[in-house]
Amino acid sequence: MQERITIAPSIMCADLCNLEKSVKEIENAGLDTLHIDIIDGSFSPSMPLGISTIEQLRKITDMNFDVHIMSNDNEFFIQEMLRIGVEQITFHLETSSHIDRYINLIKKHDTKVGVALNPATPLSVLDYVLPQCDTVLLMLINPGFATDKGEKQVSYATKKVNDLSKLIKSKGLDTRIEVDGRVSLDTIEELVSAGADILVAGSTSLFKSNNSLADNKEIMEESILKGLNKEAAFNG
Ligand code: DX5
Ligand code: ZN
Repeated sequence: MQERITIAPSIMCADLCNLEKSVKEIENAGLDTLHIDIIDGSFSPSMPLGISTIEQLRKITDMNFDVHIMSNDNEFFIQEMLRIGVEQITFHLETSSHIDRYINLIKKHDTKVGVALNPATPLSVLDYVLPQCDTVLLMLINPGFATDKGEKQVSYATKKVNDLSKLIKSKGLDTRIEVDGRVSLDTIEELVSAGADILVAGSTSLFKSNNSLADNKEIMEESILKGLNKEAAFNG
């Protein structure tokens, strides 16, 4: 499948009582990245994974750890992830008073930098830092409410991805767009054609209960290819 797109299984949506088994199943499906959510219970009323869990996971797999910090004390969690050793660290601009400092802290440790935006946060917050970021993560649901089945993807998800894709292209950057939250088998085609590069795969795609993980991955890849073809046709 096209290398532009990364499927990043959201490990908080796996079987948390059998994490090692879940990780092996994901590896056997040929996936190389794990999306790991750290929520402090205060940024959002949720706390799916702990720091020690990630430390233990690090010992059992070489997969790329794509860590998404949702906290009110980003510096603490950034330092902890740098100590453990992960491939990408993404933090929220809404709870960061020292954005530039955090970006430099992460880059200094040869780790990819991501900045995350809640659904309603405007792209203008990226004005001065976009060139320093490897990835921009767009939350398409209100973070930390993933387990609340009533939580739906925001209506402006595709438009926001499109707007960010145009902004990146206008600056001649190769920043990747990560989408997180109800990235479902039905919305993937639209999101990819709008410019999404990294798909956080959770309860509405890879871990959808009515299919095996391998079957869900196949359906995802079909939607991804349709999205890429749509994007190619649109760009001519
Ligand atoms: C924030 C988390 C979730 C999770 C994916 O709550 O970032 O978005 O990874 O959840 P789904 O894909 O099931 O909405
Ligand atoms: Zn996430």
